[in-house]
Amino acid sequence: MAYSYSSQVPEKLDKHISIRGWVYRKRESGGIIFIIIRDRTGTIQASIKKDNVDEKTWKQAQESIIESSIELKGSVKKDERAPSGFEIECDYFKTISKGEPYPITEYQSTELLLDKRHLWLRSMKMTNIMKLRSYFFRYLRKYNDSKGFYEITPPLITSSAGETGADMFPIDYFGQKAYLTESSQLYAEAMIFSLEKVYTFAPSYRAEKSRTVKHLAEYWHLELEAAHYNLDKLLKFEEGMVSNVAQQLVKNNEDELKQLNVDTDTLKKIRPPFKRLTYEKAIDLLNQKGKDLKWGDDFGVEEERMLTEDEDKPVFVTYWPKELKPFYQPINPKDERTTMSADLQAPHGHGEIIGASERIWKYDDLMQRFNEFEKAKGIKFNMQNYEWYIDLRRYGSVPHAGFGLGTERLIKWMLNLDHIRDAIPFPRMINRLSP
Ligand code: 4AD
Ligand code: MG
Repeated sequence: MAYSYSSQVPEKLDKHISIRGWVYRKRESGGIIFIIIRDRTGTIQASIKKDNVDEKTWKQAQESIIESSIELKGSVKKDERAPSGFEIECDYFKTISKGEPYPITEYQSTELLLDKRHLWLRSMKMTNIMKLRSYFFRYLRKYNDSKGFYEITPPLITSSAGETGADMFPIDYFGQKAYLTESSQLYAEAMIFSLEKVYTFAPSYRAEKSRTVKHLAEYWHLELEAAHYNLDKLLKFEEGMVSNVAQQLVKNNEDELKQLNVDTDTLKKIRPPFKRLTYEKAIDLLNQKGKDLKWGDDFGVEEERMLTEDEDKPVFVTYWPKELKPFYQPINPKDERTTMSADLQAPHGHGEIIGASERIWKYDDLMQRFNEFEKAKGIKFNMQNYEWYIDLRRYGSVPHAGFGLGTERLIKWMLNLDHIRDAIPFPRMINRLSP
């Protein structure tokens, strides 16, 4: 039997349909039960008249409660009093599972909604966000595929060969210490020597003890790596990719965006090119706005907010001090204090969404940077872990560049969410591990 979705009901005027879903609202008055059914497309009203149905149907309808799973059949009629202007007049009603009284009622604390996340995901807000999240993934993949990139899959368990080794989650790997990956970049780099243009969509894990609205301990990281790309070419790619997502959303997802009160005019403005500001100029700008920053200071939440609060489009901050960036970033030949790097800052103060750079591709340069790094930071790299990465510079190396985009940061920004936790179904944060 074919079932209709609630969104199809208007097209089925005067037809007899079957529909499945969950009880969203319910009231009874004068021998009629009104039930708003929720399914993945939205809601629709159904009415069950005592006089028109058999006793079993009436009893099941009467006993159903909020979030009971149900199935019903009936004729679609116009009804101005119904929220959508249409109503299903039922002649059959079956409770699939009545369930227990639903623990989430109208006004609930944020904590309770996080504790009951597995249920809260049924809310209209989360349903719309999760649909859009799927579209974000789809649009990003489609864009990268259309530009000739191959999607690859990296390992998530590593022997610590991360960017610094700090802030990683240790695990016991058959008695050996291993870590959950903080980035798949180094593995993506390995694959450009065969596939040339690659990207990965995978979780990255960060054990940093940050309690902000933009930090997750587990997030979905889109990392892209391209042979023969320089910084300029990479940033053009980023502009194109990010703008494309915004334009695809506007084109295909008006409904979900409207329900989340996302202003599509704001999204429409996101088109290339994006402003490019050197780190040095960004510091000047922030100091003009009242900050007291010196060369070499990193940006915190407040600096990021101030930097783009008046911007409608993202801004690239380019050529960062080498002390602030990882060992694999090459020195900028035009200013040796800096690297060939750029972070993309989202507008309206949403903060960094992409980190990008050229990669050191010559063996000697890489070894020199490892040494400098160890001296400057007073750390000792376990070179054994990086042997394979260094190997890539031994055999037919080529210039290349790449970036990492935090998918939930992108979603938070474009959907204007208050907190990054709502951009992912089951957030992992410093104070939350379940559900
Ligand atoms: O700037 P990050 O740490 O850079 C890297 O990991 C590079 N290896 C990426 C690359 O070039 N392949 O992280 C990249 C992006 C950030 O710009 C941010 O959007 C996101 O990952 N990110 C986080 N998102 C959510 N929660 C966190 N704790 C995040 N940390 C970084
Ligand atoms: Mg970064």
